[in-house]
Amino acid sequence: MTEILPINENSLKRAKLLILKGETVAFPTETVYGLGADACNTAAVNKIFEIKGRPNDNPLIVHVHKDFDISYLVTEVPEYAKVLAEKFLPGPLTMVYKSKGTVSPVVSCGLDTLAIRIPSHEGAQRFLKYVDLPVAAPSANISKHVSPTSAQHVLADLQGKIDLILDGGVCSGGIESTVLDCTGEIPVVLRSGLISREMVEETVGACGEYVYREGAVARSPGMRYKHYAPRCRTEMFAPDEYEKALALYDFEAAKGVKACIICDGDGEKFVGGRKYMCLGATPEEMASNLYSELREGENTCDLLIVISPKQSGGVMAGVMNRLTKACGKRYEN
Ligand code: TXA
Ligand code: MG
Repeated sequence: MTEILPINENSLKRAKLLILKGETVAFPTETVYGLGADACNTAAVNKIFEIKGRPNDNPLIVHVHKDFDISYLVTEVPEYAKVLAEKFLPGPLTMVYKSKGTVSPVVSCGLDTLAIRIPSHEGAQRFLKYVDLPVAAPSANISKHVSPTSAQHVLADLQGKIDLILDGGVCSGGIESTVLDCTGEIPVVLRSGLISREMVEETVGACGEYVYREGAVARSPGMRYKHYAPRCRTEMFAPDEYEKALALYDFEAAKGVKACIICDGDGEKFVGGRKYMCLGATPEEMASNLYSELREGENTCDLLIVISPKQSGGVMAGVMNRLTKACGKRYEN
């Protein structure tokens, strides 16, 4: 039985007991819900991989509260990383450093680096402070499914597989944290998110972006996998392909297929009487709505027709990265 509890003294006690016993606990963050376990307990970390069905070469992020001394976990913190931490943490930015080897080697899948995240969500801070241990946590979904942005989403994926979900409401950020490699001369974005490459560059003068190419050794192994996919057919169109997208909708709807369009604020005026969901007008709104709309879509429709938003750059890089990973295939006649 999986329990969902609001975050209070009682549920935190329960959560701490579970973590100390080597069990997992789902908890909210400002990005998506995480599935946490004691990062120093190899058996507990292995459970995370099992529960999610996660490939064992995709490393986990370690979460700590804001007063946790990370020099306990990592060796070098370059000057630029201190500046970035001062500006953006707690917040949706994960920083990768050289590991001290304090946590279980399973966390980083044998890499000599460690990804550390200090979430800003009040419930996450309370949980992490209460257990006062480094907590390894991926997103609390079945591997390759859409990430969860509510306790109900976690339950839908992990019911019966975990004991406790701490309910901290709906995640406002909506897409996973930016992952930033801080082991080199300049920071390099490994996964885009709400802290954009441009924001990092503006703060410390330079920031690279890692682009994974098929077949190469991935700097951030998670990038190799198809991710975030809804469990229904999805077709993706470019911003100027409205006609083609609407034609597909009409063709499928005539056969009785329950189709739904996902588009941005500009797109709304094109969809006519067809069923649609609006991602939002700003990149932040789109990030916030994306996963809940994909989950709503897979639960209520047979076909999601995604029309790419026009905007690009900044936070939009993160939104487009998730959208293409979820709905990747482009529609061809
Ligand atoms: O917002 C988030 O980051 C959420 C919440 C729960 O904090 N967590 C999350 O975890 O998205 P996960 O496991 O779904 O994604 C972790 C990403 C993967 O792409 C993984 O490859 C990368 O971080 N990563 C973890 N450790 C790494 C390391 N040592 N070096 C490079 N990439 C790493
Ligand atoms: Mg994930």
